Amino acid sequence: MKDRFPGPKTLAALERGIPFFKNGLRFGAELKRAGQRGFRPVRQIVIDKALGDFVWDLDGRRYIDFQNGWATNPLGNCHPEILEAVDVANRRFGFHYDHPLRYDLAEMLADIMPGKALPRTNYEVSGTEAAEAAVHLALTHTKRRYIITFSSSYHGMGLATKVLSGLDAGHGTYLEGWGGGVIKAPYPYSERIPAGMSEDQYTDYCLWYLDNHIPSCIAARDNIAGILVEPGLAEGGNWIPSTRFLRGIRDICNRNDWLMISDEVLTGLGRTGRMWGIEHYGVEPDILVYGKNLSGGIAPLCGISARDEIMGDNEDFASGSTFAGMPAGCAAAIRTLQIFERDGIVEQASRLGDIAVEIMSKWESSSIVRQSRSNGLLLGVSFCKPEGTNADEKDWWTARAVRSKMLELGVWAISDHEDTIRMYPALNMEESTLRDGLQVMEEAIAYVEKHGHDEGDAPAYPAGVSGF
Ligand SMILES: Cc1ncc(COP(=O)(O)O)c(C=O)c1O
Repeated sequence: MKDRFPGPKTLAALERGIPFFKNGLRFGAELKRAGQRGFRPVRQIVIDKALGDFVWDLDGRRYIDFQNGWATNPLGNCHPEILEAVDVANRRFGFHYDHPLRYDLAEMLADIMPGKALPRTNYEVSGTEAAEAAVHLALTHTKRRYIITFSSSYHGMGLATKVLSGLDAGHGTYLEGWGGGVIKAPYPYSERIPAGMSEDQYTDYCLWYLDNHIPSCIAARDNIAGILVEPGLAEGGNWIPSTRFLRGIRDICNRNDWLMISDEVLTGLGRTGRMWGIEHYGVEPDILVYGKNLSGGIAPLCGISARDEIMGDNEDFASGSTFAGMPAGCAAAIRTLQIFERDGIVEQASRLGDIAVEIMSKWESSSIVRQSRSNGLLLGVSFCKPEGTNADEKDWWTARAVRSKMLELGVWAISDHEDTIRMYPALNMEESTLRDGLQVMEEAIAYVEKHGHDEGDAPAYPAGVSGF
């Protein structure tokens, strides 16, 4: 008999979660419906073991890991040197707030900031807290009320970051009373250009909106503290902005005395083949937000860095929760940065990114691939439904079907409730493993292009149940 996927142990674990986790009732109903109608069950895995470029599920199946703990394992899973550094820090300090590693790390971070221009740092536990801290810093420094953010941006799951993010209007529902200081502006996606506009015209429109529309009819120019921007809309679908757009933002900020805040929680620390995503654009931000990769995949360490005059003397700025800058997180970050330097990790990511783009660009000839995008190892492929399918079918069902097929064939990538598949290989992934994973994706695309998706691919996976 052909192996069932997911295997029985994985399915049993998923079912165990139904009474306990959010949206479990919905998830349970969908599982039952899929089973009753003979559809394939939800394609989802539960990790039993993670090592290097691979993970294994509870049924012992191995997967190439393009999911990467949501882009938090820059050196692959369970890197032994990071594990050891964290272990040593835990045994020596346990948990205390003030310890020497905080100072060591602050010096290292100052050294790698764009242009070495952001020497002041403030640690946080999560990227969410860091993004919120950056906004609070900007508001208190400028003594202004408004922050501009973008469509499809993602800055986290705190109360403030939910209203700052433009990824999903639903995240702001019932929070309407909390978002008064946020102004959302359009982001110039390469693919979603309004009919009749060229890419440059659309970018100009987005810049005009920031510089003219907002100050003339939404908020006074001198009441805007700054612009919070991802130099690569990561969670929003790995969209890569143009140089024209990010330089335009820098210019607008300079002319208006607004702060430019670069949220590099996902694009930072080598992901794009440079230390910081913003470095591709030849501009320096005033505040930089970081997280994810700095954990080395083992212990969280996030934070913000800013110019001296912004954070050197600002008594209204308050931030940093209990576990921010904990010894284990600092130890993980320090060891990660040391390995980055010793092993040329950022250069490796850049080289692997070049290999990936060469392979992925060929996929655009498939009728279900709209676009493949990449900046270093920030990889995205967006899909459209096969020709001739019903009007009520969604493009994201196709993305989900390809992602499910990949999983079945042994490659784990991300497709949330979006028409894109996102991939975040480890920055030091073996070249042959990267090639193997992309080869599998190519096969999955060809399969779905030929066979379409079956019903089990789409509705049996309500967004938000599992978080992947
Ligand atoms: C750009 C960006 N900012 C902030 C966050 C939130 O980080 P965290 O999930 O660590 O709170 C994320 C998470 O994906 C992110 O991609």
